[in-house]
Amino acid sequence: MSDTPKAFPPRIFSGIQPSGGLTLGNYLGALKRFVQAQDDGTETIYCMVDLHAITVWQDPAKLRHATRELAAGFIAAGIDPARSILFNQSQVPAHAELAWIFNCVARMGWLKRMTQFKDKAGKNAENASVGLFAYPALMAADILAYHATHVPVGEDQKQHLELTRDIAAKFNHDFGVEFFPIVEPVIEGAATRVMSLRDGTKKMSKSDPSDMSRINLTDDADAIAQKLRKARTDPEPLPDTLDALAERPEARNLVNIYAALADITPEDVIAQYAGQGFGTFKPALADLAVDKLAPINAEMSRLMQDVAEIDRILGDGAARANAIAQPILEQCYDIVGLIRAAR
Ligand code: AMP
Ligand code: TRP
Repeated sequence: MSDTPKAFPPRIFSGIQPSGGLTLGNYLGALKRFVQAQDDGTETIYCMVDLHAITVWQDPAKLRHATRELAAGFIAAGIDPARSILFNQSQVPAHAELAWIFNCVARMGWLKRMTQFKDKAGKNAENASVGLFAYPALMAADILAYHATHVPVGEDQKQHLELTRDIAAKFNHDFGVEFFPIVEPVIEGAATRVMSLRDGTKKMSKSDPSDMSRINLTDDADAIAQKLRKARTDPEPLPDTLDALAERPEARNLVNIYAALADITPEDVIAQYAGQGFGTFKPALADLAVDKLAPINAEMSRLMQDVAEIDRILGDGAARANAIAQPILEQCYDIVGLIRAAR
């Protein structure tokens, strides 16, 4: 092995599970950033991780719908299927095949430490699927099948990315190669986290029982405006510094959302609205949100009217993804000592 680590060309990979609808949190925290990366000109690969979704029970018809709707969300948010590779995981066999190799590289002890498994399996871990336990090895395969170098994800995925690095390092070490890159997590900070509209200390989430806590990308203009007007706040007007919002999580969240939607900083928002009450700020925020989100919503509905076209786009993306991943898988098999007949 050489002393200097092998340089891999920059390539971004990320995935989202098709398990339920998309929220404003997914848009501002993930999709919008994915679009920026694409527009910056880096090679971008975005995957709807349907094989991850089935680690917990999914109704087949709902899974199909959620996968297509997620694809529509990606495209409506600005992912161009010609410039990015957009596909669903199960159409590219290299993910599941490389995951098997990684199941044999990762150690039980590593996976037992994963907090997401503990959270998701809960008290009844004996009854969780084997897939849920092995999930992080599949995630490592998603990334490493493309020799991806950068992976934008939320804070909660940090541990899985560290595991991906451990798997790559152990594989490289065990076989004496520099075959898999050691990926760089691109973790979004708390500033890009969108919080619940009912409780500023909880993340906005598709799994929150209250629909009023979140804005769904499928919400129409009226619903968006109503949810923001009814968002929980306090009676104080907006202060003239951001620091003064430290103890006011709901107010801080609305300022953050405004800033993210308007592509300005939270400081800019404060400069504009200092001294104003929520009676003024919330309608302004509602107008801005409708302005930005209504076109996405409309485009998603339009795309969902032609699922055959969505399926075609995913098939095309899968073919391009496969063209990258299959040769990497073949080389990996060769390194491991698995015979490939000459073709
Ligand atoms: P999830 O919906 O938890 O499967 O997450 C899919 C992607 O959206 C991940 O990259 C998350 O980090 C991002 N995401 C989900 N909820 C939020 C939120 N409330 N704020 C910011 N980003 C989020
Ligand atoms: N585990 C990620 C989540 O729950 C989704 C995911 C699967 C992913 N494979 C990935 C994210 C590869 C980034 C890269 O959000």
